[in-house]
Amino acid sequence: MAPACGAEALGFDLRDASPETIEVLSGALADHAVLFVRDQHLTPPQQVALTARLGTVLRVPYIRALSDHPDVIAVLKEADERNISTFGGTWHSDFSFLDEPPSLTLLYAVEVPDVGGDTLWSSQYAAYEALSPGMQRLLGTLRAVQTAWPHGTRGPDATVAVSRSVVMTRNDPSADREVLHPVVRLHPVTGRKALFVNPVYTQRFEGMTTEESRPLLQYLFDHATRAEFTCRLHWTPGTLAIWDNRCLLHLAINDYDGSRRLLHRTTTAG
Ligand code: SIN
Repeated sequence: MAPACGAEALGFDLRDASPETIEVLSGALADHAVLFVRDQHLTPPQQVALTARLGTVLRVPYIRALSDHPDVIAVLKEADERNISTFGGTWHSDFSFLDEPPSLTLLYAVEVPDVGGDTLWSSQYAAYEALSPGMQRLLGTLRAVQTAWPHGTRGPDATVAVSRSVVMTRNDPSADREVLHPVVRLHPVTGRKALFVNPVYTQRFEGMTTEESRPLLQYLFDHATRAEFTCRLHWTPGTLAIWDNRCLLHLAINDYDGSRRLLHRTTTAG
């Protein structure tokens, strides 16, 4: 779909994927970081089963799942929810504030606008590789603090509605923890280096104040999402996107007030 990342995977029915299909998809994911598989027909249990074929299913904390499918989150904005911020509406990788952030995310389109509601991904391999050798060396020595606070989950019983239909919860104090991750990570499958800062969750560099960290972090956030590192998907019902949070940022574009958008999200453990 674009030089930096993204490929369409054609001709698959993932309801009952063969071991060969899983191998082909895993290989293509290593090459392209995000795959788009059109015209699928996945119930939540079938999506969970597919997720389990690609890794270990991760039940993510601090967000309300479907009541009868605890491994599946509904990413939903109703047609009458106007002028609100949406889940995933700022560049991020999923849940980088966890000790072991998710590796893959699978997002399956149930109902999507005819126009708008696209998602962008940005290759953090490309972002890292475009930096000067001096900056690469510097960043290779740094770790950064990641927290879930920006989502308002701080406080003993905080429950925050991102939209009416996506509810972040916190029922355990671990949500307030600061977690350190390297600023440059080594991908365990490809062996490539990727930038790993997150405009939503990265607060500061280890051993530095927020003020000291801000200028370089802001530079990296801007750099990480340069247009030439990105690809863009227009969803159609039945499209499944599978992406690798270890080498990508993504952004859901919130430009579809007046339309309903519902996707089912599952993740694999990192
Ligand atoms: C997400 O950030 O997981 C959701 C992305 C989207 O809704 O396109």
